[in-house]
Amino acid sequence: MITVMGATGHTGRKVTEILLHAGERVRALGRSEARLAELERAGAEVLAGDALDAAYLTRAFRGADAVFTLLPPDLQAADYRAAQDRVSTAITTAIRDSGVRWVVVLSSLGAELADGTGPIVTLHDYEQRLKQLENVNVLVLRPGYFFENFEESLDLIRQHGINANAVDADVTMPMIATRDIANVAAAALRTRDWQGIVVRELLGQRDLTFAEVTRILGTRLGKPDLPYVRMTYEDLTATLVQTGLSADVAHTYAQLLRALNEGLVKSLDGRTAANTTPTRFEEFAEELAEEFARA
Ligand SMILES: NC(=O)c1ccc[n+]([C@@H]2O[C@H](COP(=O)([O-])OP(=O)(O)OC[C@H]3O[C@@H](n4cnc5c(N)ncnc54)[C@H](OP(=O)(O)O)[C@@H]3O)[C@@H](O)[C@H]2O)c1
Repeated sequence: MITVMGATGHTGRKVTEILLHAGERVRALGRSEARLAELERAGAEVLAGDALDAAYLTRAFRGADAVFTLLPPDLQAADYRAAQDRVSTAITTAIRDSGVRWVVVLSSLGAELADGTGPIVTLHDYEQRLKQLENVNVLVLRPGYFFENFEESLDLIRQHGINANAVDADVTMPMIATRDIANVAAAALRTRDWQGIVVRELLGQRDLTFAEVTRILGTRLGKPDLPYVRMTYEDLTATLVQTGLSADVAHTYAQLLRALNEGLVKSLDGRTAANTTPTRFEEFAEELAEEFARA
């Protein structure tokens, strides 16, 4: 049996579906029984609870051959780093107390840095904590920027006819579909073929820029001249606060975008066949176009 945290989110849902399809028994976690119900109908055992609750996570991990873990973002946290610290403490406590021996971790490029990368520093803290565990085999996945982040562009395109962010138009960076992360995670959870702590970068199909992504998406939506507007960090922070993020979380995300512009969030290994994954942004743009048409 394999336990999957964040099973109603982008990556965890796909990990759960791939595992169920392969005939594995899966225990799917999230906060809401209603949101987990679809996975229960698909054959998963579900267990709802909060990732801050180490006793709940220990129950959820106990008896599992392997677990998939992530740090669910808390967008309302007054102090983001401290809030994520409490979650990563609960997860590592549960790994230790449950006795699970294989753990796959969703981290990020840039997690080797202790500061200056916004939300990624909480993944750095989490990785440090995992290194202190004994007799546990930990596979740390460090993916690039998720394609799914561009779901948020759809409203901007609909309402204002632009794509916008605080990332420079021509900065190249690895970007990836969460389905590619999920495929790697699910394979590792099934085979459990590594020992000790192993870090694996996942760089997507190719490096992309926000200008190129905007061009591909605009063309697919019948708007080949869709403009990409480079917002200031201050405007972006104010917009995020207006949409309900806490001031600290908005500031933390602005710091991430600055780190992307400054090239801090980068591959340490360089692109290889092993860290390149198949899904092209052009394919993902098809899914975004369907979502755009539905709304
Ligand atoms: N976005 C990127 O470009 C990027 C890149 C690299 C790494 N990452 C990392 O990827 C992770 C997010 O992954 P994702 O996008 O797949 O997840 P997601 O779509 O944000 O979903 C989060 C999941 O966690 C659950 N959840 C939220 N708060 C919870 C809580 N307090 N207790 C228990 N469960 C909770 C949610 O379920 P319910 O809401 O149903 O409870 C959902 O299943 C983050 O750690 C982020 O730093 C992101």
